[in-house]
Amino acid sequence: MYKIATLNKISPVGLKQLPGGYILVENASEADGILVRSQDMHEMELGDKLKAIARAGAGVNNIPLDKCAERGIVVFNTPGANANAVKELVLCGLLLAARNVPSALSWAAGLKEDVSKTVEKGKSQFAGSEILGKTLGVVGLGAIGRKVAASAKALGMEIVGYDPYYVSGGEGISVYSDLGEMLSLCDYVTLHLPANDSTKGMMNAELFDAMKDGTVLLNFSRDKLVNELDLAAAMESGKVAKYVTDFPNDNMVGRENVILLPHLGASTAEAEDNCAVMA
Ligand code: MLT
Repeated sequence: MYKIATLNKISPVGLKQLPGGYILVENASEADGILVRSQDMHEMELGDKLKAIARAGAGVNNIPLDKCAERGIVVFNTPGANANAVKELVLCGLLLAARNVPSALSWAAGLKEDVSKTVEKGKSQFAGSEILGKTLGVVGLGAIGRKVAASAKALGMEIVGYDPYYVSGGEGISVYSDLGEMLSLCDYVTLHLPANDSTKGMMNAELFDAMKDGTVLLNFSRDKLVNELDLAAAMESGKVAKYVTDFPNDNMVGRENVILLPHLGASTAEAEDNCAVMA
């Protein structure tokens, strides 16, 4: 009998897939396998019997990969299983930024009297711009990046991309081998790549300098990809007009022109079921 522990809430639709011979246990230290979503496992003691860890999601930065490799513990993720959910929130993020929706919402929610008149008088402060015809740079053309590119293209955006490992699937994306060159063309830039030693802090001063003035940066991947000191300077200088992130942290809370979402990219019933089933 194999013992499986869950470290986060894992969809019952997925757990039902466990065949006979597998049982769910409370205590991760006695488990043969672990199903995890976002819980940080780096400081966790890994049990003697542990053979595999399944991440119900794309990123594996919450799992101590080196320690697992040393111990022969197999780690796997669920690529693509939540890609549609993340794509939809990225499109939402694009529109939130383009149309100044967060500040307009909080202004409208605070109106008390003579509301209709105040709205018509005050709305011009939130006038935005359309995304039609604007250029979106997609950094990382995996399952999520490709979906974002296709949907943004259908909304009339021009798409450019950067991904050293890209193999064309006929998406009609102009892919650049130089990230700085690609960034210089973009009105919007969206990040879709894993956080690891080679990508940590990759969005730095040099790359911000390569951007057009007033670029909107969307980060639905991980906060670690962005050097936040350099980002703050780029926002100060006007290179980056807005930063939309699904990964709020102490550096970003309360900053002007930063739109914060609480890591909701994969938080849909459909994505949670898909990830659990694949895991
Ligand atoms: C992912 O890496 O796919 C997401 O962070 C998943 C999640 O929100 O749990």
